[in-house]
Parts: sequence; C-alpha cells; structure tokens
Amino acid sequence: MKRILFASGLAILVFDSTALAQAQAPSRHGRAVLKEFCVSCHAIGKTGTSPRPSAPPFRTLGRSYDLDQFSRQLERGISSGHPDMPEFKFSADDARAVSAYLRSIQQ
Ligand code: HEC
Repeated sequence: MKRILFASGLAILVFDSTALAQAQAPSRHGRAVLKEFCVSCHAIGKTGTSPRPSAPPFRTLGRSYDLDQFSRQLERGISSGHPDMPEFKFSADDARAVSAYLRSIQQ
C-alpha cells in the first residue's frame, strides 16, 4: 500500500514539473526581451526599484493595465506619451512572452 502511494506521488511530481517548464519558457523569453529594451529605466523583477525613478516598476503594471490586452498593445507599439520613453513595437511572439512574464511578477 505504501509503495503504491509513493509511486503515484512520483507521477504527480513528474507531471507538475513538465507543466511548469512549459509555462516558464515563454515568460523566460519575455524577461530577456524586457531586460534588453526596458531595464535601463524600469525595474523588471519582483523586487528592486527602477533605475529611472519616474518609470513604474513592471510588477505594478497590472494595476493600470489589463495584462490580457497588454500583449496586443505591445504589438501595435507602446509609447507612454512621455518624451523620456522611446516607442517600442514587438512581434506577436515577443509580445505574448512579455505579457506572460509580466503576469508572473505582478504583486
Ligand atoms: C529611457 C527610459 C525608458 C525605457 C527604455 C522604457 N521606459 Fe517605459 N517609461 C519610462 C518613464 C519615465 C515612464 C513614466 C512616465 C510616463 O508615464 O510617461 C514610463 C512608463 C511606461 C509605461 C506606463 C506605465 C503606467 O503606469 O501608465 C509602460 C507600460 C512602460 N513604460 C513600458 C515600457 C516597456 C515595455 C519598455 C521596454 C520595451 C519600456 N517601458 C522602456 C521610461 C522608459
């Protein structure tokens, strides 16, 4: 009896880590994109302050944006209307990856 329980526990563990790896791949790519283009002004992690104090840390973007819509916005091109921030445009894949990453760090 003990042995069966152990075996089924193991099966669940293996299944979980596969699902996790699949869920993490796009968001890891999203983080890399943000690191390349945005990290000079915005805090992109779960902690830390933005290098540019007026640029909001990305973990708080969910407060002012619907992150489900945000990837479409990134594809169309994003500009905050602020002269300090250049305009960016992303491919559909990058936009999806960025949104997945952003969702994973919201507070
Ligand atoms: C040169 C500095 C700079 C870079 C690089 C930069 N930003 Fe910004 N960003 C700002 C500043 C400053 C603000 C805040 C002022 C404003 O709202 O215009 C801002 C605001 C924003 C906002 C609006 C936040 C809100 O609460 O309305 C979003 C979304 C945003 N940035 C996304 C990005 C993304 C995505 C990237 C990378 C692709 C990026 N930014 C790169 C400086 C920058």
